[in-house]
Parts: sequence; C-alpha cells; structure tokens
Amino acid sequence: MEKNLKSHGTWIGKWTFVLAATGSAVGLGNIWGFPYKAGDEGGGAFVLIYFLCILLIGLPIMVSEILIGRRSGTSPINAMKIAAIDSNRSPAWQLVGWTGIIAGVLILSFYSVIAGLCLNYIFISAASSGVIEAQTQFENATQSWQGLLFWHSVFMILTLLVVSAGIKNGIERMVKILMPMLGFLLVFMVMYAMLNGAFNKALSFLFSPDFSKVNTDTFLSALGQAFFSLSLGMGSIMAYGAYMPKKQDIGSTSVSVASLDTLVAILAGLAIFPILFSFYDGFSIDETLVQLKENGLGPGIVFVSLASAFNDMQYGQFIGPIFFILLSVAALSSSISILEPGVAFLSEERILSRKKSAIVISALSWIIGIGSVLSFNLWSNVKIIGDKNFLDSMDLIAVQNLQPLGGMLIAIFIGWFMKESLIKDELGSINPIVYKIWRFFIKLVAPIGVGCILISQLF
Ligand code: PHE
Repeated sequence: MEKNLKSHGTWIGKWTFVLAATGSAVGLGNIWGFPYKAGDEGGGAFVLIYFLCILLIGLPIMVSEILIGRRSGTSPINAMKIAAIDSNRSPAWQLVGWTGIIAGVLILSFYSVIAGLCLNYIFISAASSGVIEAQTQFENATQSWQGLLFWHSVFMILTLLVVSAGIKNGIERMVKILMPMLGFLLVFMVMYAMLNGAFNKALSFLFSPDFSKVNTDTFLSALGQAFFSLSLGMGSIMAYGAYMPKKQDIGSTSVSVASLDTLVAILAGLAIFPILFSFYDGFSIDETLVQLKENGLGPGIVFVSLASAFNDMQYGQFIGPIFFILLSVAALSSSISILEPGVAFLSEERILSRKKSAIVISALSWIIGIGSVLSFNLWSNVKIIGDKNFLDSMDLIAVQNLQPLGGMLIAIFIGWFMKESLIKDELGSINPIVYKIWRFFIKLVAPIGVGCILISQLF
C-alpha cells in the first residue's frame, strides 16, 4: 500500500472476537425479528429454511469476511482493496466496502429508533398498571414523535459513546459486560416461559414444519433474516475480523458465532411464544396467529401482544422490564458493530479522529432515523417505495437488498478472484476436506443461492 494506514490493534482476550461478533449478531433481529417472521411465515417450515440459509450461505460468507478482514487488519473498504490488489485485481473491489458502509448508515438509522423504543418500554412496562391496554400504550409511545425522537437520540448517544472510546476501551470492555448479562437474562426468560407458559405449544409451533405456507417470499425473508442476524454483507463482521489475533482459527470461530446466534434466536422464540400462547389460552395455534396478526405481527408481537401478556401476568411489572432490558442490551452490542466499519475507515485514513468519525457517522444515521421516527406518526401514510413507509423502505434497501448483494459480491470475489494462496495462508492448517467443502459453497452455492433469491423479488 502506498499510504500508511493507522493501525487499530487487536482484541486482547482470546474469546473477545467470539463475544464481540456474537454481540453483533445477536440483536433485535434474533429477539424481535426472528419470532415474528417465524410467526408470519408458518413456524417450523420457516425455521428450517432459515437454518439452511445460515448453514449453507451465511456460514461460508462469515468465514470469508473474517478472512479478508483479518488479512489486512483494516476497515472493510481498505481490506477489500488490499485483498484485490494483492490478487492483481482491480482496486474497484473496494466498492463492496463502500456499499457496506452505506448499508450500515441506513440500518443504524432505523435500528436505533426501534432500540430506543425498547429503552422506553423498560419504563412503560414497569409502570404499567394493567388498566391501560397494551395497544393504547403502544399508540401513546409511538404517536408522539418527540418521545420516539428522544429515545432514538438516547440510544444513538450510547452507541456513539462506546464506539468513540475505541476497540479495547469501548467495544471490548462493553461486550464483556453486556454479553454475560444477555445470557443470564435470556435463560431467566426461557425458564420463566417454561414454568408459566404454554411451552409445548410453542415447541410444536417452532419445530413442526408446515410446508403449505412456503413460497418464494419465505425464502427471501429467511435469507434476509439470515444475513441480518449474522451481521453479514455490510462490513461489521469484516471489521471485527480485522482485530482478530492471527493465531485464532477462523473456521471454528465462525461456527461458534453462527451457532450461538441461532441458539439465541431459538431461545428467544421459546421465551416469547409460550407466553403468547398461554395468553391466548383456549385458542389453537392457528387461531392465536390470527389474533397476533391483528395486532400487527411486526412491532406488534413484542410491543403489543407480549406487552399485553406482561400487563396481565402476576409479576408482569418485573418480568416486562427484564425482557426489555434484554432487548436493549442485545441491541446495543449490535449497534456498536454497525457503526464500527465507517468509523474504522475514517480514522485509519486519518481523515478524522476516532471520536469525530463516530460523531459524524452517527449524526448522519440519527438524521436519517428521523424519517423512521415520523413513519410511526406524522408520515404514517407517506409511502416511499411501493406501499412501504419510510422505515420499511430503509429495511428493504439495506437489509433485503444491500446486505445480500454485499454478501454475494464477497463470495464471488473470494471464490473466483482472490488468489488461492492468500486464502490458504490466512486459513492456516485447515482440514483439506473442510476446505474443499467451503470452497464449493463459496464459489457456487452462495452466489447462485443469493442471486436467485435477489432476482426473484423483481418479479
Ligand atoms: N445482527 C443484528 C441483529 O440481529 C443486526 C445487525 C445487522 C448488526 C447488520 C450488524 C450488522 O439484530
């Protein structure tokens, strides 16, 4: 490289990469997105397709991202550029890093609005007396743009503070506190649901596939969910990979992160659905789903349906806040990883200090996020793309399109354009059979799979 990039250093602890990457992966996508998509798309069948997307497409791409990131130790833009130049390819491959940063700014913009709502719900669910209906509570919380904007700002400032404190003092220190807390809260919620909820109904809902509800949309939504949940295709995992020490094994680490992420999604389902099914006691699974859909399955499943179950249950005023603290913690350990790639780029290029980079990028996301704040109230009838409001349009652009596109390009680059000797150097003493299998998936399965699903949505 002609330019001298500022180095970021590496994680200190051996487990820090796994903690940080799991922190990135586990977030609103697992605890809020996965259960409602599973509910919306027919339970077990969706869960099965989702597992396949994680295993066949997500995992191979995660290995690729970590590999490219760690090789250079730089932000995704420079990591792609260096890998391309070292393979005698066009430096234009860095565009993959740039689209990732754009995706990140857009994702953070609405992520922070929903996460802010979670923060707000810690207090709403603690104060709830059961007199005000959950639907009314939700309307009260979202009808005032001032309130949403306030919590969006609080969450963005928290994210900004952690990232600007740096990799060791900010992110590493934070995930070491947040992740054990998350594990503890989640286990508590599942045990609670097991003892007090309709646990068997939830099990059969999540694990007995009904393929009659599967269509092309199911695949698109499972794939989008897999990319979002594993934080792939937009640079977060690549940026964290850059700080991974050389002696750590990329393959087994990726398996740990993907497994933990999937485990948390299932546990979240097992914490939420038993409570919902027991709240709708006397209804069958399908009838319950109809009821849930009336509340709006999206935000509704957590902020209305689950919230009304909390209102109704004996210790709801304690269990409710615990659940929303869990969501907020998970969201914070993800949002810091969404902000990191852009901040790493601006600071390693010495364009701005880390602190100023974090302020500039989070301010940009904060401003765009105002559109998502308004989509709950003043702009609820404003359609941006098709019949989608502002928030859903951001999700469509960044999560359903840019993330899979970025992932596909990374797979194509590493499968077809990057020098194999460089790849082998980075993977170390990987088992030759495992290597061949990975190579096959990254060259063919991932690009074709993602390509087909991306194209299918055009029709
Ligand atoms: N994986 C996070 C979640 O499930 C969201 C995320 C997306 C984080 C993209 C980083 C990058 O909530």
